Amino acid sequence: MSSVEKQILKLRDQINHHNYLYYVLDQPEVPDAEYDRLLRELEALEVAHPELITEDSPTQRVGAEPLKAFGEVRHKLPMLSLGNCFSDEELHAFIKRIHDRLKSNKTIEFCAEPKLDGLAVSLRYEDGRLVQAATRGDGTTGEDITQNIRTLRSVPLRLIGRKVPPVLEVRGEVFMPKKGFEALNRRAAEKGEKTFVNPRNAAAGSLRQLDPKITAERPLEMYCYGWGEVEGWSLPSRHSEVLEQLREWGLRVCPEIRVVKGGEGCLDYYRDIGQRRESLPYEIDGVVYKVNKLDLQDELGFVARAPRWAIAHKFPAQEEMTELLDVEFQVGRTGALTPVARLEPVFVGGVTVSNATLHNMDEIERKDIRVGDTVIVRRAGDVIPEVVSVVLSRRTDKTHAIELPGTCPVCGSEVIRPEGEAVARCTGGLYCPAQRKQAIKHFASRKAMDIEGLGDKLVDQLVDAELVDHVDDLYRLRVDQLAGLERMAEKSAQNLVDALDKSKETTLARFLYALGIMGIGETMAATLAQTLGSLEAIKTLSLADLIEIKPGQAEKIHALACEAEGKTDRSLQELLAEEKGFGWFTDVHARLIAEKLGLESNDDMLKGLCAASVDQLANPPGVSIEGVGDVLAEQIVAFFHQPHNLEVIQKLMDEGVHWPENEVAELGDQPLSGMTFVLTGTLTQFTRDEAKDKLQALGAKVSGSVSGKTSAVIAGEKAGSKLNKAESLGVPVLNEDQLRQMLETGAVPF
Ligand code: IVH
Repeated sequence: MSSVEKQILKLRDQINHHNYLYYVLDQPEVPDAEYDRLLRELEALEVAHPELITEDSPTQRVGAEPLKAFGEVRHKLPMLSLGNCFSDEELHAFIKRIHDRLKSNKTIEFCAEPKLDGLAVSLRYEDGRLVQAATRGDGTTGEDITQNIRTLRSVPLRLIGRKVPPVLEVRGEVFMPKKGFEALNRRAAEKGEKTFVNPRNAAAGSLRQLDPKITAERPLEMYCYGWGEVEGWSLPSRHSEVLEQLREWGLRVCPEIRVVKGGEGCLDYYRDIGQRRESLPYEIDGVVYKVNKLDLQDELGFVARAPRWAIAHKFPAQEEMTELLDVEFQVGRTGALTPVARLEPVFVGGVTVSNATLHNMDEIERKDIRVGDTVIVRRAGDVIPEVVSVVLSRRTDKTHAIELPGTCPVCGSEVIRPEGEAVARCTGGLYCPAQRKQAIKHFASRKAMDIEGLGDKLVDQLVDAELVDHVDDLYRLRVDQLAGLERMAEKSAQNLVDALDKSKETTLARFLYALGIMGIGETMAATLAQTLGSLEAIKTLSLADLIEIKPGQAEKIHALACEAEGKTDRSLQELLAEEKGFGWFTDVHARLIAEKLGLESNDDMLKGLCAASVDQLANPPGVSIEGVGDVLAEQIVAFFHQPHNLEVIQKLMDEGVHWPENEVAELGDQPLSGMTFVLTGTLTQFTRDEAKDKLQALGAKVSGSVSGKTSAVIAGEKAGSKLNKAESLGVPVLNEDQLRQMLETGAVPF
């Protein structure tokens, strides 16, 4: 044997061994990168020596060309199905039948297994090589899916170990793990493609591909739980021992399989698996009990197409069909509007369900759900029931579309759903009763108004006791009211009142953040405060002030404006609609840009846009705020257009909440204005937030990541990658003492 040949065989053995450790024993020894390296090395050798490629080489999982149709496979031994039971009584009756038939009352040993929700397949190994894989089909004849099964990494192309029988048919279930299913559906949804209703359908759809390359991209796995034709192997005496042997040959067996005794053992297993069902990485629809001793199995035999020695104990169905009677919108703590389906009550997942979530408007549109439709409802474990799909074949002409309300069903504020966003939200943040607790908790939190002692539980108590409706009510709380609350002594009541008083002295950035405007985090709040300087300026912002156009986009808009100019049949918006990446661009945007450039009428507008320079389009005069995208802009403007919100803000100010006015009017003169700092590592003299507040108070920006534009990195103890990055980019690094000095003197030490 040549040395290349030896090397190839060695690599295949190594790869097969790692596959076995990974899939069968679930104990990988090497990182994925090492596995990939071995595979690449083998591939390279095989490319150089194609004569040495064999069918069972791990490189040959996806090789074949797409098929025209699947061939037929006649199973040498039929692939059986299972009888079902749904209750303890039915299980006891099954066991009684076994005792009666065996004429024995001895406790029976069972092999208890999860009932995997996938597709049964049969694998045929000859002399240890996978030669054929087939679906169950009607139990007698299935489809030849060898090409597709070969792409599953958890199916060995070659069995390992000694004494592999000359013929071995192994049976088991191919399934798609939950995570893989979710990722697959997420990708499909992103691309606007059809999604699968459940992992079982996804597994079936993936195996039924004529092109094995598609199957290879699907996250399919297999567990073995039985066998068919076997030659040259005298089987051990128990089903569980056969499975152990299969595992030793490199076949994957479900790790949840247990040997149990009698009906009680079966029921304990059923309950245990039932409790852990949601946390298992794959879907199951029940458990299967199989008489463990093979001689007893033989004695019991079969009825029709099912063995007398095995039964499936099913969990209550998780999916049912029912009618969608109506849709209402619920407002969540964060203002998100969730469409809720009112259903004709249906028994699913063990309970009667009459409401189910429809998630959001995007989901409704994607699934094409209408009121009056027959829908499939799913209730898995304790998860909120959801409408998964429509049974289109049952749609009548009496259905109607589901419409998003224009105003919040709880508080009547305007509802906005920014273009491209799935979630619609109520804009009455501070006012809306549905969002009340959340808004107050956020308002009091450390990075917002920092009201010491006002934690989540206390907020719940205050709202429940009707002492606080809106954030401004906090500042009217009295010690005697608070002391009446559960677990609140006079001393702590006084402390809270003091803390509230202290919190009135704040900064504009904190106040803005505390208002809880959707999408305004502390960084954006600080940027807004710094750029605009006063609440008045922020309140009166218009969308036109906030619109942001990227340089590449400006070029296109400019070019198309020139194209549209002079044409009567095509508007700028129409032309842009045909461009990729301009889906967000509407008439309103065109008008806003024009407005900023001082262009008025429609004709004028196109002319003006075309006459303007690309640079002017990208940076129209007005305030430009870094990082404010269109969505955020809409949210900021909508928030300050709600009279309720303005009212609460006014009340807060009347209660004495204040901040240094015009923090920014003299921003240009601030000692650190125009500089950007990054904080990293553990600071000992300040908390991160304090350091940040102080830097911002001197006009600096604080960013989370180091770039060439960073003025300096402030490194505390145990600083890591950010410090390294600063050093490699030549960005100055300050220690904590230097930071303190800089904050005290305003002098920059570099
Ligand atoms: S044994 C002779 N064991 O359930 C018994 N089947 O309802 C043949 N299934 O077609 C099947 N998990 O697709 C067996 N641990 C398990 C199973 C299982 C899932 C499926 C299989 C079979 C169907 C019968």
